[in-house]
Amino acid sequence: MGLVTSTEMFKKAYEGKYAVGAFNVNNMEIIQGIVEAAKEEKSALILQVSAGARKYASSVYLRKLVEAAVEDSGLDICLHLDHGENLDIVKKCIDDGFTSVMIDASHHPFEENVRITKEVVDYAHARGVVVEAELGRLAGVEDAVNVKKEDASYTDPNQAVEFVQRTGIDSLAIAIGTSHGAYKFKGEPKLDFERLDIITNKLQGFPLVLHGASTVLPEFVALCNKYGGDIPGAQGVPEHMLRQAAQSGVCKINIDTDLRLAMTAAIRKHFAENPSDFDPRKYLGPARIAIKEMVQHKIKNVLGSSNSNSVL
Ligand code: G3H
Ligand code: 13P
Ligand code: ZN
Repeated sequence: MGLVTSTEMFKKAYEGKYAVGAFNVNNMEIIQGIVEAAKEEKSALILQVSAGARKYASSVYLRKLVEAAVEDSGLDICLHLDHGENLDIVKKCIDDGFTSVMIDASHHPFEENVRITKEVVDYAHARGVVVEAELGRLAGVEDAVNVKKEDASYTDPNQAVEFVQRTGIDSLAIAIGTSHGAYKFKGEPKLDFERLDIITNKLQGFPLVLHGASTVLPEFVALCNKYGGDIPGAQGVPEHMLRQAAQSGVCKINIDTDLRLAMTAAIRKHFAENPSDFDPRKYLGPARIAIKEMVQHKIKNVLGSSNSNSVL
């Protein structure tokens, strides 16, 4: 058991035509809920830390909590930096013990993206850490990741091959129509599977990553809305599309929004039913269970990664 890279996970996932879930973590209850689900399912697991998470909880707390999760669960877990903004941040995380980093230079022109990414790869590989980079741009709005629809662009398959060859990255995040946050499609959900298949065929055996892959299950939006506040018109990636992606070369599926919805629904429900509670354990406990159930559902019914943890 230990903190591991995603190399073996992706090799097995690619061959087995399933995907490993990469779940965003922001506090102890989220980590515990995810890890309990992964343990029950004996699943490979990536826990990822965004810029927003570092700002909220600080990297050291999250890293120590993930180390505690490894010790407590006995699982192999990959600790990943999500959307690393620049070389300094990436270097800091590598030096602190992250086993995987993403450098997100996708907003730069192609040559600049190659140059920055290659610099990260050289630094990371010399220290046994793997690198994810992005080509093409997802739309969507979250704390530190904010791209307008008109600035989004799909991944060019030929550029993808050149990008992978010139940078030496370990996995590639592609844009095929997903976006960050709870509002992914206006009208019918649609992903460019033709493009995905072309990229997969050109990159034979190379692991692809799908960001913005929450499903935004209507029952959780309804639950949130039932117990207060209004989350209007939310729409995510249908589960059958994620299953299709997992069978077509996508080895890592990023999920954050669905965890937020599950946790929020549980807490709102708790307060609707127990308005005079003021012990945080009384509402964070159900929130942790809601996270666990959501992740277990993902592993079993969407990712297909049960029984894939390398400690088995
Ligand atoms: O890709 C974005 C993730 O969902 C993290 O969002 O920066 O608000 O934590 P955040
Ligand atoms: P969602 O907002 O769809 O959960 O995507 C999360 C993500 O891509 C984190 O990098
Ligand atoms: Zn993302």
